[in-house]
Amino acid sequence: MGINNLDDLGDTNNFENTTGLDGLGNLGVTESQVGESQRDSQSSSQSNYQSKSQRSTEVQALFNRIAPVYDQLNDWLSFGQHKVWKLMAVQWSGAALGDCCLDVCCGSGDLARLLAKQVKSQGQVYGVDFSVQQLQVAKETTPPHLAIEWLEGDALALPLADNYFDAATMGYGLRNVVDIPQALGELYRVLKPGAKAAILDFHQPQSSLVNDFQQWYLENIVVPMAERFNFTEEYAYLAPSLARFPSGREQVSLAKSAGFTEVVHYSIAFGLMGVLVAQK
Ligand SMILES: C[S@@+](CC[C@H](N)C(=O)[O-])C[C@H]1O[C@@H](n2cnc3c(N)ncnc32)[C@H](O)[C@@H]1O
Repeated sequence: MGINNLDDLGDTNNFENTTGLDGLGNLGVTESQVGESQRDSQSSSQSNYQSKSQRSTEVQALFNRIAPVYDQLNDWLSFGQHKVWKLMAVQWSGAALGDCCLDVCCGSGDLARLLAKQVKSQGQVYGVDFSVQQLQVAKETTPPHLAIEWLEGDALALPLADNYFDAATMGYGLRNVVDIPQALGELYRVLKPGAKAAILDFHQPQSSLVNDFQQWYLENIVVPMAERFNFTEEYAYLAPSLARFPSGREQVSLAKSAGFTEVVHYSIAFGLMGVLVAQK
């Protein structure tokens, strides 16, 4: 759970910036102005691409760095509750005995292992992440009887076939990808028609009391605890990145734009967490 991308990486999850709507559209624009506009637009989309790819590289480096302590910190910071929330996501994904399932942004592999327990040896699970160090931890901590294949890959360009999976999960990954619509589009592409994705992440509580608690908790528990592990900087970005993350309602709308037909966002843990359930 708790880790975020770096706040100073820019507005990594500003989904409004990823629509690609650069059209000219103005009447009375001269040809040379059109040329300039096109060049501006091309260079701005190129620099947008470069900054996204740079941000992605920094997120990847961050998760490689924290891999050795990631699991332990998650257990402490959530008082073990993240495992319960992950179990809920697995149930909501509809994964069943014998299914072929996918866990994107699998990190050290918690959710993929829960999926594997659900599908048993008759099924197969693929865990995908772009952090080699996280995948290494996943491999080392997974009992051999679980049918999981770990793949190094990008959530924004999954190295997987269309219409292939019976169910998918993502835990605390959506906030960290640099292009949320693209990640949702990729999930949509690889799921079979009728299959579901369950996406667990932080959520901004509606209640101001719970919201105050969340802020207090991030500042007074998460950051000091991260300091003890010398990861102060990495964890300091959690609060601002949460503030940037789309609300449940916005996530529903993004998933629908990606093509999903039935989409619901459930807030859990007093609204501190949320699970977006999207059916293809
Ligand atoms: C907060 S961790 C979550 C790990 C795990 N799912 C969990 O719930 O504990 C986010 C993970 O997303 C991965 N990630 C972020 N952007 C990614 C991308 N574009 N492609 C693949 N993995 C990505 C990071 O490497 C990291 O392991």
